[in-house]
Amino acid sequence: MRLFLDTANVEEIRRACEWGVISGVTTNPSLMAREKADPDAALREITSLVKGPVSAEALSLDCEGMVEEARRLARVADNIVVKLPMGVEGLKAVGRLKREGIKTNVTLVFSANQGLLAAIAGATYVSPFVGRLDDISHDGMGVVRQLAAIFSRYEMDTQIIAASIRHPLHVVEAALAGSDIATVPFKVLEQMVRHPLTDIGIERFLADWKGLMAARSRGAGG
Ligand code: G3P
Repeated sequence: MRLFLDTANVEEIRRACEWGVISGVTTNPSLMAREKADPDAALREITSLVKGPVSAEALSLDCEGMVEEARRLARVADNIVVKLPMGVEGLKAVGRLKREGIKTNVTLVFSANQGLLAAIAGATYVSPFVGRLDDISHDGMGVVRQLAAIFSRYEMDTQIIAASIRHPLHVVEAALAGSDIATVPFKVLEQMVRHPLTDIGIERFLADWKGLMAARSRGAGG
C-alpha cells in the first residue's frame, strides 16, 4: 500500500515529501485551478520534487487530441503519468499510449466495469472516485474492493488508486479493500498522523521525566 498526495499545491507537496510517506502525486484540472499558477510551470516543479509518478490530466475529448496532449505532457518529465477520462476515446488513447511507452491513469472511474475496461485497454493505473460515489449514496469502496479482487484473480498489472478520498477512514478502508495506492489531500494526511492519546501520552512522559529530574536534583542537593 502506497500513498500519493492529491494536490497541485507545491508547498503541501514539499512538506509531505519531508515526512517520507508520499511516493507520488495526482493532480486534476480543478486542483490546478485552485492554485492559479501556470500549469506547465507547476508540473515542472512538482515532478522535480517528487521522484515517483505525477499524474497530469489531458483535457481533450477525442483520442487524437488526448494522444497529442499526452505526448506533450510526457515530455515535461520522465515521471509524468497522463490522466485520461474514462470513456471510449480515453480507452482508445490508453492503448496507443501504452504502445508508445507513456503511462496512463484512467480517471473518473465509478464502476468495476469501467475499471476493468481500462485495465484490459492497458492502463497503468485506474482511479475509482470513492468519495463522489459515497456522496450519491453508493458504496464507493465497494468498487475498489471489486477491482482489487478482479485484478488479483486474473493477474492484471493495472494498479488501483483509490481517489476522491475525503477522510482518514477512507484510507484504512482502501488499504483493507486491497487498493495499491490511496491518493489523499494534505488535510487527510495531517489527520492520519494525529491521535489525542498520542498527544496525552507525550505530555505525560515529559511531565514524569521532568518530575524524575527534579527529584534527582533535590536528592543531589541534600
Ligand atoms: O483524485 C481525484 C480527486 O481529486 C477527486 O476528489 O474530492 O474532488 O471528489 P474530490
